[in-house]
Amino acid sequence: MLQFYLFGATGDLSLKKIFPALFALYEQRLMGESFEIICISRREFLQEDFHKYLEEHIIGIEKKIKWTSFLKHLHYQKMTFENVLGYEDMAKTYDIDKGTVRLFYLAAAPEYFKTIVANLSQSEILEMNNKDHRLLIEKPFGKNLESAIQITRHLEKYLAEFQIFRVDHYLGKEMIQNIMLFRFSNGLFEAGWNKDYIDHVQITVAESIGVFERTGYYDKTGAVRDMIQSHLLQILALLTMTPKNERSQSDICDGKVEVLKHLQFDDVYKDIVLGQYSKSDNSVSYRDEQGVHPQSKTETYAALKIKVDLPRWKDVDFYLRTGKRLQEKHSDIVIVYKKPSGKIGQDAEPNVLKIQIYPQEGMTLKFNMKEPETTKELTTREMTFCQTCIEGYKRPKAYETLIYEAIQGNHDLYARWDEVKYEWTFVEKILSQCVELRKELEFYSAGGKGPIEADNLLLKDGRQWLSDK
Ligand code: BG6
Repeated sequence: MLQFYLFGATGDLSLKKIFPALFALYEQRLMGESFEIICISRREFLQEDFHKYLEEHIIGIEKKIKWTSFLKHLHYQKMTFENVLGYEDMAKTYDIDKGTVRLFYLAAAPEYFKTIVANLSQSEILEMNNKDHRLLIEKPFGKNLESAIQITRHLEKYLAEFQIFRVDHYLGKEMIQNIMLFRFSNGLFEAGWNKDYIDHVQITVAESIGVFERTGYYDKTGAVRDMIQSHLLQILALLTMTPKNERSQSDICDGKVEVLKHLQFDDVYKDIVLGQYSKSDNSVSYRDEQGVHPQSKTETYAALKIKVDLPRWKDVDFYLRTGKRLQEKHSDIVIVYKKPSGKIGQDAEPNVLKIQIYPQEGMTLKFNMKEPETTKELTTREMTFCQTCIEGYKRPKAYETLIYEAIQGNHDLYARWDEVKYEWTFVEKILSQCVELRKELEFYSAGGKGPIEADNLLLKDGRQWLSDK
């Protein structure tokens, strides 16, 4: 038996990601024979009204025959997160045998995490050290290191670390999962995955959307805390870690932590660009978005150069960038190799391996060959593998994968507390330097390519962004 308790069941995240993922798992018969989803929210709904609300608000899924039978597993529970009586009521209503797997998904604002967990524990719905009782929490894990530590200290009173699943949905994406498998299953690449062969790495996560109704959260957060602290540093850690045993989850986490502890950022003036979108023909400026402070200094774009201060990556530069309201939504990782040391190599273009995450999933590899009909001329060719082009390929959705893994009790795609702690430690160090040294915001036109200064970040090192867009 599986019980899935969804806190914040009428919120945006639940409607856009969690219900569609649960339904998809149900359609694929991956929710098990017997399960119930307890949908918790403060709104006044009768069960049928709630079903109707879902019917109207969940988009992007085909609500056909299976949808009706799926709804039978959904139970609406009106209650405020603070009211312990609601939990006690729930404990009575859903009291079932010991072996039940209980997943508590907090799709709620982080300020409620502490209250919900304390109340779940007090009403004995959640038992400490019970491996079948699992808590899933969404980022942001706090708004800075201090609050993340506080949340964790609080959670630790009620749960063991093995009961906590910290969702970083990028870890559920196909090509992000692929980094590990690709690296460690190809001797050809693994042998040269280090400072002797790799010149630099570029990670881009560009978004075309703005912040919509999330301005309340975003204006206090910004691109560094929202995206770099979690998704981009996780990608970097997966690319650079050296786990003792790459089949062991704890060794993988240890490997990531080792990298995150050794991130190095040198110069606020030269190595970071913070941007904010300004008005364009098709869009208002960030400061004119509803709910944003008219003088807001929040960055909607960040690009930075960092190093991993470990022998394996000595002197290799890692460039990370992310932003909102850019030309197109796309993400990729570009690994640029060093040129070979011989005379011919000096005339060649560097080998480039590109891992495409979105919109296309795939890989391309650039290499040099002889130009036909010449004897010594070189030309650069490309080998491409497009995963999304495979006929019948259905891109798995990150939330489907993540929820399924949590149902199985598998932590592989979740972040451990010390990973999050060192992510926060690093971004806070950078952000406090930016504040101290009064780092200026660069403005870029909404729908454009981002601030020109982000191009200069590479140009001054004799490089350029090689991402698709
Ligand atoms: C979230 C951020 O974690 O990731 C959002 O809070 C961002 O600001 C989103 O839009 C991007 O996710 P995806 O999967 O659309 O690239």
